[in-house]
Amino acid sequence: MNKKIKDLLRKKNVSKIICLTAYSQPIAKIISKYCDMILIGDSMANVLYGMKNTHKINLETMINHSKAVKAGAKNSLLVVDMPKNSYRNVKIAKKNAKIIIKQTKCDAVKIESNQKNFSIIKNLVNEKINVMGHIGYTPQFKSKFSVEGVKISDQKKLINEAKLIEKAGAFSIVLECISKSTSEKITKSIKIPTIGIGSSYKCDGQILVTDDILGLSGFYPKFVKKYANLKKIIEKAVKKYSQEVKKGKFPGKKNSF
Ligand code: KIV
Repeated sequence: MNKKIKDLLRKKNVSKIICLTAYSQPIAKIISKYCDMILIGDSMANVLYGMKNTHKINLETMINHSKAVKAGAKNSLLVVDMPKNSYRNVKIAKKNAKIIIKQTKCDAVKIESNQKNFSIIKNLVNEKINVMGHIGYTPQFKSKFSVEGVKISDQKKLINEAKLIEKAGAFSIVLECISKSTSEKITKSIKIPTIGIGSSYKCDGQILVTDDILGLSGFYPKFVKKYANLKKIIEKAVKKYSQEVKKGKFPGKKNSF
């Protein structure tokens, strides 16, 4: 376990853990000043590549973006999402997780839980690969969005799932769209940190998709807070550029040799 993961574990019950996603070097460089952990999320499938879900993003693309993020983020813990199908059995998971870590030099991989892949986590951890779990709404396995852990029976299932992921050796778990009381119970039931997205302040830390909080993605569900409107800023700048080129105002003397 490396120092960045040890530092993250120490934060449970001490201070909130700050996490965001990044897919590129410039964004990683900015956000790493403020983030304990950066996730190279397979959400890039929707956000960056305009795909309808995360199912078709491939390993090579995830690796290339992870290398870019690594080049920009000096201090944060870097976690790479394993794409769907890249961990469909233990053998394939081991092979691909090793490729990810070797080629990207990131710190850990994240795999979404389908209530069955605990032994995959265990096997990766046995190979000294750091693994983050992901429960609740897991886009790789669920096509319909819903808030999870509302019914008592679902709450019990989720708590059990989190405990099994911890037992398998994961160092942390993402809780996606889980009700407040279930998130609180999970967070209190396990010793590893929970990182919430749409899962209330009861988690040990928070993660959001950076493009969502910057107003770039066009995807703003209830759990997202837009901290900036970059879409508007970019549009204004590009409109001005276009007008100036048309009028012959750009390039002017200052921008010419
Ligand atoms: O892919 C991603 O960005 C994620 C976060 C939403 C947790 O898995």
